[in-house]
Amino acid sequence: MEISSASFVISNTSVENCPKADLPEFAFIGRSNVGKSSLINMLMNQKNLAKTSSKPGKTLLINHFLVNNAWYLVDLPGYGYAKVSIKQRDKLHRMISDYVLKRPNLQCLFVLLDARHQPQEIDLEFLEFLGENQVPFALVFTKTDKCKKTELNLNIENYRNRLLESWESLPPLFLSSAEKKQGKTELLDYLTQILKDLSSQGLE
Ligand code: GTP
Ligand code: MG
Repeated sequence: MEISSASFVISNTSVENCPKADLPEFAFIGRSNVGKSSLINMLMNQKNLAKTSSKPGKTLLINHFLVNNAWYLVDLPGYGYAKVSIKQRDKLHRMISDYVLKRPNLQCLFVLLDARHQPQEIDLEFLEFLGENQVPFALVFTKTDKCKKTELNLNIENYRNRLLESWESLPPLFLSSAEKKQGKTELLDYLTQILKDLSSQGLE
């Protein structure tokens, strides 16, 4: 897919104020600092479209970007960031779950996992929550450039096995590196297919 335009639309603290849900939408979620905003910039060929930071807790709002005047990409705050007050963390978690449950045009939620790590409870719990609520999702392993190939394969195999303990089948799974621009074609092809299916069903 060619990205002919991508621009920031609006930031919100609540799903109720998000743009009218009249275009298909894809969102990126995962633990704080996993690389959501960087992945969006990589996919959109822009350095600073979504704000990134080496410190966790950079994205604290629901950020909508309009792509090709046809669909939205959404950058969400990370979950599980320890260095904020419990009240603030609860507020962020409510913002995320409200967004995920109340956005009827959400076609796929990309759940990002750091490729260097073993399966983490907080991610597995979040995936359970998505399953219970039938939210369509795909997994993206990020920062693969920071991982040796053998370590990467082992971590992914561990994740697969862990997921198969509670899931009958695995969701689509992608590997990415914002640093090396890995995964761009695969992710954009996946979005293209979903958009094509929608338009052939007349739901676009
Ligand atoms: P929050 O908004 O705080 O939840 O974080 P985020 O998930 O949006 O992460 P962000 O994109 O801001 O990236 C966090 C840090 O990881 C930044 O220092 C990025 O440069 C770095 N980073 C992101 N993706 C990659 C990657 O693929 N490879 C490497 N080496 N670093 C990455
Ligand atoms: Mg971010």
